[in-house]
Amino acid sequence: MSHLPFPDRVGVASTPGRSQHHGFRPLHAAVILGTRPEAVKLAPVLRALEDSEDFAPLLINTGQHREMLYQMLTRLQLQPHYDLGVMTDRQQLSDLTALLIGALGEVLRDEGPDLVIVQGDTTSTLCGALAAFYERIPVAHVEAGLRSGVLDNPFPEELNRLLVSRLARWHFAPTERAGARLHAEGIPADSISVTGNTVIDNLLWVRHRGAGRSAFRTTRRGILVTLHRRENQGDRMRAMAATLLRLAQRSDVEILLPVHRSPAVRDVLVTALRDHPHITLTDPLDYFDFTASLAASELVLTDSGGVQEEAPSLDKPVLVLRATTERPEVVSTGAARLVGTDPDAIHAAANSLLDDPALYRSMADAPCPFGDGRAAQRIVTRLAEDFAATPTAGVAVGAATADVSLAQL
Ligand code: UD1
Ligand code: UDP
Repeated sequence: MSHLPFPDRVGVASTPGRSQHHGFRPLHAAVILGTRPEAVKLAPVLRALEDSEDFAPLLINTGQHREMLYQMLTRLQLQPHYDLGVMTDRQQLSDLTALLIGALGEVLRDEGPDLVIVQGDTTSTLCGALAAFYERIPVAHVEAGLRSGVLDNPFPEELNRLLVSRLARWHFAPTERAGARLHAEGIPADSISVTGNTVIDNLLWVRHRGAGRSAFRTTRRGILVTLHRRENQGDRMRAMAATLLRLAQRSDVEILLPVHRSPAVRDVLVTALRDHPHITLTDPLDYFDFTASLAASELVLTDSGGVQEEAPSLDKPVLVLRATTERPEVVSTGAARLVGTDPDAIHAAANSLLDDPALYRSMADAPCPFGDGRAAQRIVTRLAEDFAATPTAGVAVGAATADVSLAQL
C-alpha cells in the first residue's frame, strides 16, 4: 500500500462556506474508487469537492484495476492519496472482496474521515461502503437506485448496488426513476436526491477541452463496440464475436473495438477478430480518444453501463448487448435498444439501423435522459447543507434503512 500525506486538520466547519473562518476545518470526504468507470464518474465530484470551501477530499484508490485506471486517473488529473494495489490477474470476486475490506478498514481507521463517497456497483463500491459502515462513517452513494430487477444480471453488480443502498446515508439518484425505485424499496425520501448522472458532467468537461483523436482508421461508417461483462464472457462472447465478423462483411463499415484488459475478454475477442481488414482492435483507449471515437462513430454496440449513457448524449444510437438494463430510461426515450445477446438479433438490429435512415434518425434524435452536467455540484451542495444542519450527520449511519428487511433484497 502506498500512502501520500493528507492535509492537516484544523477544526470543524458547521455551516457551508464557513471553513475560511478561524476555528473551522473542512469536512474530510474520503472518495473510494477502484475501476475505470468509477474514475470517470467520481472525477466531477472530486473537482466539486476541491472547489468547495467545506470539504477536503481524500482519494483512496483500491487498485481493483491497474493500467485501465491509471490511464484514466492520469488523463483526468486525479492523484490518489492511497493506492491499495490489490489487483491480481483473473481475480476472483471473493478474494478481491476479502482483500479490500481489510485494507480499506485500516485506511479508514487511520484517517477517520467525516464521510465516505462511493459510486456505482463494483466490488470497490461495495467494499468501500461496507468498510465505512463497520467504522461507523456515513456513506454517500453516487449513481444510486439503478436496478435491472434480476439479482444475478448484471453479475455481481445488481447485488452490489442493492447492498450499498442498505448501507448508505445519502442516495444520489441519476434520474427520477432511480429515485422512485429507492423510495419504493423503503429508503426515506429525505435521504434521496435526484441529481443527474455525473458521467455527463465529465463528458462535457472533456468535450469542452476539445482534445482527443478518433481511433477509426478509415472513412467507412464507424461502429464502436465494447464488451466486458462477466455474464457475457465465454461462449456468449464468442458468439457475439462471430456476429461482428458477419457485420464486418458489409462493404461500408469499420468496426472499432477497444479491448478491455480482462484476459477472459481478450482471449476471446483478440483470437476471433484480429487481422480483419475492417475490424480495428486496440488497447483500452485514453478517455479523450474514446470520446472522440464515440463522436466519430455512427452506431454503438455495447454491454457497458457508462457507454450506454455517453452515446445518447453525443446523439449516437446504442444497441445494448445484454439481457437486462438498469438504465431503462435510455430505452424508453428511444435512444437505445435492448437487443440481448442472440447473434442473429444483434446482426439484424445493426443492419436495420445502418439501412433505415428514418429509424436511425429517430434513435439519434432521442433525448439523453441523464442530466445537464451539474450533478456533482448538486451532490456536494446537498452534503454541505446536511452537515451544516446536523454536524453529526454521520450518527444516522444505517438508520435510514434500518426498517428494510433483508428479505426485500
Ligand atoms: C469491473 C467491475 C464491473 C465494471 C468493470 C469496468 C466488479 C465485480 N466488476 O469488471 O462492474 O463494469 O470493472 O471495466 O467490480 N485487468 C487488468 N488491468 C486492468 C483492469 C483489469 O489486467 O487495468 C484484468 C485483471 O486480470 C483482472 C481482470 O481484468 O483480474 C478482471 O478485473 P475485475 O475488476 O475483477 O473485473 P472487470 O471485468 O474489469
Ligand atoms: N472508456 C474509455 N476507453 C475505452 C473504453 C471505455 O475511456 O477504451 C470509458 C467510457 O467512456 C466510459 C467508461 O470507460 O466512461 C466505461 O467503462 P466500462 O465500460 O469499462 O465500465 P462500465 O461503465 O460498464 O461499468
